[in-house]
Amino acid sequence: MSKYQFKKNHLLGIENLDPEDIDLILETAESFVEVSTRNIKKVPALKGKTVVNLFFENSTRTRSSFEIAAKRLSADLINFNSSVSSLKKGESLKDTVLTLEAMNPNIIVIRHSASGSPYYLTTFAKSSIVNAGDGFHEHPTQALLDALTIKQVFGTIRGLKITIVGDILHSRVARSNIFLHKKMGNDVSVVGPPSLVPEEFEKMGAKVHYNLKNGIKNSDIIMMLRVQGERGAGRYFPSVREYRNYFAITKELASYAKKSFILMHPGPINRDVEIDTSLADSDKSVILQQVTNGIAVRMAVLFLLKGAMNESVDQKRPGN
Ligand code: CP
Repeated sequence: MSKYQFKKNHLLGIENLDPEDIDLILETAESFVEVSTRNIKKVPALKGKTVVNLFFENSTRTRSSFEIAAKRLSADLINFNSSVSSLKKGESLKDTVLTLEAMNPNIIVIRHSASGSPYYLTTFAKSSIVNAGDGFHEHPTQALLDALTIKQVFGTIRGLKITIVGDILHSRVARSNIFLHKKMGNDVSVVGPPSLVPEEFEKMGAKVHYNLKNGIKNSDIIMMLRVQGERGAGRYFPSVREYRNYFAITKELASYAKKSFILMHPGPINRDVEIDTSLADSDKSVILQQVTNGIAVRMAVLFLLKGAMNESVDQKRPGN
């Protein structure tokens, strides 16, 4: 493993990581993949540490894989349930976090609909903060688990063409993936209806396409995104049928990508809206491999932030 040390105190986004940080997280995750194949799926790396899962938005994959990751590292875990908490009695986010911090956790994993809320926590909390998805902004562990999956398939996360398709506007997954793949020197395209793919994505270094066939030509990776109805995306195109006609990936359209292409999706998928069922279930799809890799990547992030080898650098860490 690399001698490079992880010097961040929080994981707020991909934007403020260096390529060396990304390589280190992936190498560390690769070493944790094996743990989940053991009969006893546990290592003592975070014994005595406490992780709080603070989810204010729905989640299946991220929440459960952070929970499994913490448990496989032998950490204690609190799953905070916002719907039955004192938030319902008017307690603020800050007071909720200060209350939980009074119980001395080491890491708080937060998902929130407000972009920037993980950063806000770092302004008053003592724990390491991990962003599990904040509004439209970033979903760093998703981009990292996507990168691990890509590395497993192609043997590298450099020199590739990745095309991200769908509701780019509302997608924290798209933003984190664009940051990551531009940092690693990859060719990144985004495709969708103009209303869901603002030209500002060009400023992030992505090529913008409004035609699916053109966008996915010669791609190594096609990453489909869900239309985020909960953020009002349904108002950005005339009908689901029309959206599907222009932007759903089918076997025929996928034939414009490289022969060796893989199909990714962060989930949850809307079958036969953005992705043809026959393709979602085909051997080109790595969607479930992405889910599996979520555990190793989240183990790596928790370990690099608070594992024993990092105790000595804890005092010297910069803000994030
Ligand atoms: N990919 C993802 O974030 O899924 P969940 O919303 O189920 O966590």
